[in-house]
Amino acid sequence: MSIAAAHARREQCFPLAELHCHIEGAAPPALVERLAASHGIDVSAIIRDGAYVWHDFTSFLAAYDLASTVFRSEGDYADLAFAHLSGLAAAGALYAEFFISPDHARASGTEPDVYARGLAAGIARARRETGIEARMIAVGVRHLGAEAVEAAARFAAGAGRPLITGFNLAGDERIGQPRDFMRAFDIARDAGLGLTAHAGELCGPESVRETIACLKPSRIGHGVRAIEDPDLVRGIAERGIVLEVCPGSNLALGLYPDIASHPLKRLVEAGVKACLGADDPPFFHTDLAREYRLAAENGLGPAERIALTRNALEAAFVEADLRRTLLDRLQIEALSLGAPGASH
Ligand code: ADE
Ligand code: ZN
Repeated sequence: MSIAAAHARREQCFPLAELHCHIEGAAPPALVERLAASHGIDVSAIIRDGAYVWHDFTSFLAAYDLASTVFRSEGDYADLAFAHLSGLAAAGALYAEFFISPDHARASGTEPDVYARGLAAGIARARRETGIEARMIAVGVRHLGAEAVEAAARFAAGAGRPLITGFNLAGDERIGQPRDFMRAFDIARDAGLGLTAHAGELCGPESVRETIACLKPSRIGHGVRAIEDPDLVRGIAERGIVLEVCPGSNLALGLYPDIASHPLKRLVEAGVKACLGADDPPFFHTDLAREYRLAAENGLGPAERIALTRNALEAAFVEADLRRTLLDRLQIEALSLGAPGASH
């Protein structure tokens, strides 16, 4: 498809942006099976009938870790990033950030530099062919310990990788305390990276509170369980901390029994700035367009859903001039949809 055709197609779509997606977690099962077969890796325990299988957060992480090992070469990663971003562009996304994990690259036998170079090539190709803009956020995996998270921060802070613009803390929230990762976040902050951290997904509001106090991120991944503490919700709203909310992930992991019970709408009504992400889309049988549909089912009208995209662009880890361009594009697309509250 030409870039003009891609733009024309996107203009008929609702304008989307995503700030929370793990690149290995976006790998289609069919692609993982194909690469696994070529490397002689057995993935039958985690992929059945073309779908990932897992039953709780621990088995999800194990499936994710194994699926990650089939990506080995610079070209594999370029293809993965391109497939992910071109799918998002076709669905109407203007901008996307995705999480990259130097620890997962190493576990698959790939130098993190090669990994980042491949992913950056995929971003460049997606920009050329569809117009989508994207940035990468390096994650430290908390259940690997504070030293591993500091090493990930040093990697993110290293020179010569202009598309890595942020640092995040991912992994099993039940392991380690936010204060354990303060040094890693200092390294990333000193390097000028944007900061975000997973919290309030598997653990409750105290985890969100401690994460904000110790790591001082401008965004929180998930953060939805803050709803259990009204004082905390007020604090998040007052400080303008943006929640990267992933309703489909939360439903798949059983945080809430149905979309009516999800706190997104209540958080927005309390003045919290939220945006959306699909987290690990095929693992959770979702994608970004479905996340916006879930937001609608949760009670957010068109103007509130446009505001989710605007919040994402305002909180994105990008240079000021690109942010301005993206916000202008959003304004034009929202107006062309006749969306109420399209101005900013
Ligand atoms: N790594 C991949 N997906 C994750 C999630 N939903 N929470 C924490 N770490 C992750
Ligand atoms: Zn996540």
